[in-house]
Amino acid sequence: MRILSVVGARPQFVKLAPIAHAMAGRAEHVIVHTGQHYDEAMSDVFFRDLGIPEPDVNLEVGSGRHGAQTAAMLAGLEPVFEEYAPDWVLVYGDTNSTLAAAVAAVKMHLPLAHLEAGLRSFNRRMPEEHNRVLTDHAADLLLAPSEVAMRHLAHEGLAERSVMVGDVMTDVLFATRDAVAGEPLPLDGVEPGAFYLSTIHRPDNTDDPTRLTAILDSLASLDRPVVLLAHPRLRALAEQHGLSLDRGALHAIPPLAYPQLVAAAAASAGVVTDSGGLQKEAFLLRVPCTTIRPETEWVETVELGWNRLVDPETQDLAAAVVRPLPAATDATPYGDGHAARRVVDALVGVQAD
Ligand code: UD1
Repeated sequence: MRILSVVGARPQFVKLAPIAHAMAGRAEHVIVHTGQHYDEAMSDVFFRDLGIPEPDVNLEVGSGRHGAQTAAMLAGLEPVFEEYAPDWVLVYGDTNSTLAAAVAAVKMHLPLAHLEAGLRSFNRRMPEEHNRVLTDHAADLLLAPSEVAMRHLAHEGLAERSVMVGDVMTDVLFATRDAVAGEPLPLDGVEPGAFYLSTIHRPDNTDDPTRLTAILDSLASLDRPVVLLAHPRLRALAEQHGLSLDRGALHAIPPLAYPQLVAAAAASAGVVTDSGGLQKEAFLLRVPCTTIRPETEWVETVELGWNRLVDPETQDLAAAVVRPLPAATDATPYGDGHAARRVVDALVGVQAD
């Protein structure tokens, strides 16, 4: 059986790693990189550190507005799908690369599987929400990370195509956490347990200068150093708006590679982010997280007390960040760290009609 994975953006490389390993010896695995993320720190370093084979194809699409970027991927994927004629096209998460590959596959009548199916923010302003809803409804096989995701899929009439596999990011997080345990902190100028780790990159937080100013001001006023891992989108927009990323408690550095990110998050006193992946990683590491968004797809992190949603324009971010530690929990809403094997089981054992 030949399975063709399409990835393009940073969180997809992390999800691809356990899948690529689980595929070995069970299916022929073709990796196609759209080129949505192309910087060394946003792409290559993940393939290297996580032992992912080099992509078989790189479309080198690069950045652009939603329409132009998605269209370039769609046009580029068609001949690749034709050449490889895969038994499954496997798409990951909710980025423009996911949607482009989903549309290309269904138009060519290729069986389509969606990994991380069923997540919903119910916020129609987010490009990720359009991408995931459209992809779920196009796909033949929906691989869900949690019971909540399974419920969303059932509610939308997609139960028959859905399989609960667990979360593959949990697989890679646990393996990486164990591999980096005991290594020195990969950050200069801060002590373990005495800093906050932050990432901000969502368009709703970065694109409006008033909102971005409120976020940066509240981060700068926190009671401990804040290490801000600056995504290229944030750097570009802060510069455009004339906003400094280095002031008060705030100190910006380039994005970290995955093992260093896990080590830094595990050693932090708290995470402040708008990233979906990092909210969940903080929970899995049992580090309190404060999320600068009105809602989250990973609702279990909030229900269990390890994540709090805050709007820094109307609420006190500092009060949320310094809140007392939540009650300990041994809940495992995202599975047992063996989701990738179940994904391959489902792909190898199930034929879409
Ligand atoms: C994308 C995903 C988002 C995911 C995020 C992870 C969509 C709609 N969004 O958002 O779900 O959480 O990736 O990082 O697909 N840039 C660079 N170098 C790079 C990549 C991006 O400089 O390697 C800059 C470009 O100027 C670009 C901007 O960052 O305009 C945004 O990149 P893009 O891929 O469009 O979206 P992200 O914000 O990264």
